Amino acid sequence: MLKVGVMVSGGGTNLQAILDAIDNGTITNARVEVVISNNPGAYALERARNHGIEAVCLSPKSFPDRDAFNEALLDKVDEYDLDLIVLAGFLVTVPVAMIQKYRNKIINIHPSLIPSFCGVGYYGIKVHEAALKRGVKLTGATVHFVDEGMDSGPIILQKAVQVLPGDSPKELQQRVMEEAEWKILPQAIQMIADGKL
Ligand code: GAR
Repeated sequence: MLKVGVMVSGGGTNLQAILDAIDNGTITNARVEVVISNNPGAYALERARNHGIEAVCLSPKSFPDRDAFNEALLDKVDEYDLDLIVLAGFLVTVPVAMIQKYRNKIINIHPSLIPSFCGVGYYGIKVHEAALKRGVKLTGATVHFVDEGMDSGPIILQKAVQVLPGDSPKELQQRVMEEAEWKILPQAIQMIADGKL
């Protein structure tokens, strides 16, 4: 049984997609042990609690500096003896020590077709604003392993989504979530649980 930790910062619809996929048998052989957020107001924490999953918040604001926060975050993650860490809308830079310790065990969902609209400054709705501004006709989502760079690790899965005339950033974001993110993130977890990666 793959022991999974999910790290979140916001609404947690990707977390919900993972929990639903476990419940309906799309993901087998995996269990979410803990959900960790940097943001006490993250609705994702509520989703975890509703599911009977331990929900933990570690806010950088509660620590004297970034190093102290990073150390506490790694200590917290270590407590659960995880096989896989899923960044599902986790908008904090993962500490280098965690990346090194959990090499090839951290995956991230990004709401574009990497290498487009990724890297520093591209997160959440900003990604879709940039895609619309550039006028692309296709966008999508990517699941990738996390390395020391920003959105630069090996790609696991991608799925394309059409941009429709008149799309607002929010409409595009919703379509990318529904048609791509909520599908390829559970799929990637299942691939890892199956030992296919
Ligand atoms: C998702 O669209 C995810 O791809 C994005 O944040 C959103 C979180 O939504 N992540 C990034 O932009 C990372 N660079 P959710 O909390 O509803 O899952």
